[in-house]
Amino acid sequence: MTTPLVDLRSDTVTRPTPGMRAAMADAEVGDDVYGEDPLVNALEERVAALFGHEAALFVPSGTMGNQIGMRLVCQPGQEVIGDADAHVVTYEMGAAAAVFGLSTRTVVGPGGLLDADQLIAQVRPKGDWHLTATAAVAVENTHNRGGGRVQPLAELEALFTWSRDADVAVHLDGARIWNAHVASGVSLETYGRLADTASVCLSKGLGAPVGSVLVSSAERIGEGRLWRKRLGGGMRQAGVLAAAGLYALDHHLDRLADDHARARALADRLGVDPATVHTNMVVLDGVPAPMVAAAAKAEGVLVSQVSPTRIRMLTHLDVDDAAVERAASVVGELLRR
Ligand SMILES: Cc1ncc(COP(=O)(O)O)c(C=O)c1O
Repeated sequence: MTTPLVDLRSDTVTRPTPGMRAAMADAEVGDDVYGEDPLVNALEERVAALFGHEAALFVPSGTMGNQIGMRLVCQPGQEVIGDADAHVVTYEMGAAAAVFGLSTRTVVGPGGLLDADQLIAQVRPKGDWHLTATAAVAVENTHNRGGGRVQPLAELEALFTWSRDADVAVHLDGARIWNAHVASGVSLETYGRLADTASVCLSKGLGAPVGSVLVSSAERIGEGRLWRKRLGGGMRQAGVLAAAGLYALDHHLDRLADDHARARALADRLGVDPATVHTNMVVLDGVPAPMVAAAAKAEGVLVSQVSPTRIRMLTHLDVDDAAVERAASVVGELLRR
């Protein structure tokens, strides 16, 4: 018998569980472009309610959720500002500019953690005849390149409170907001209240194969529906996918605490400062990343090489205690070389 691979590259690599597959197989479906898919409608209503927003839109990916979300609160020629390591500017292929004509400007924050005053200081007013107006601020929670850190609630509150009078919108990249919620105990509704638009992923820690949901006001989501169709994101019998998302919300939300505990256990075994492990990510800094990634792979443990000196490992639904044990011994041995 061959030893199974331990895949810690991302929490996107999970495969649907038997229960999830059964829910997908049983899904009652309709044509969602006509608004007739019952499970897509149920998923949208449920996620909107969870985050305290009026409406929601099921989209194929977190990237589409983020980009449409930002477009809904920013006009072409205006700018979105955010952290320099944010997913929306690092890993979304320049979509804000390439697709929507949005300008982006970034600040380098400490490990991706939000410093409201630092961002606010960068904001440029609307209506000035020679400045690029700041229409929105993008916040990522948890922060991917920040090692899965949870954003401080006080900073989110400060930013949102300030933004009301400033006429600046807040977009939340909540791909892993579920992890932030489980780790911090802050309600999803509170996180939702602190954003004008929020994109949340079903295909990361929650373990669904595909899909994200964008939440906002009914008016914005109506417009978002047009953008989704323009981008080719109008899906037909998408209830098969919505069924997976609904199943994930029922069965895979609370268990994220297990992923977090396993990440802490892995960090502990590898001598990583536990204070840096807020959720399901463990980051190794100052290591020969190409060597570690290649040698670990040769022993059946897959990790992500984020830079020449940084390795990232994520725990998820398909990583159990035995997998953590194996990863810790393989990677630990490599680090001692
Ligand atoms: C923080 C964050 N935002 C957005 C995304 C984009 O999600 P997708 O890969 O579904 O486009 C990711 C993907 O890993 C992510 O980590």
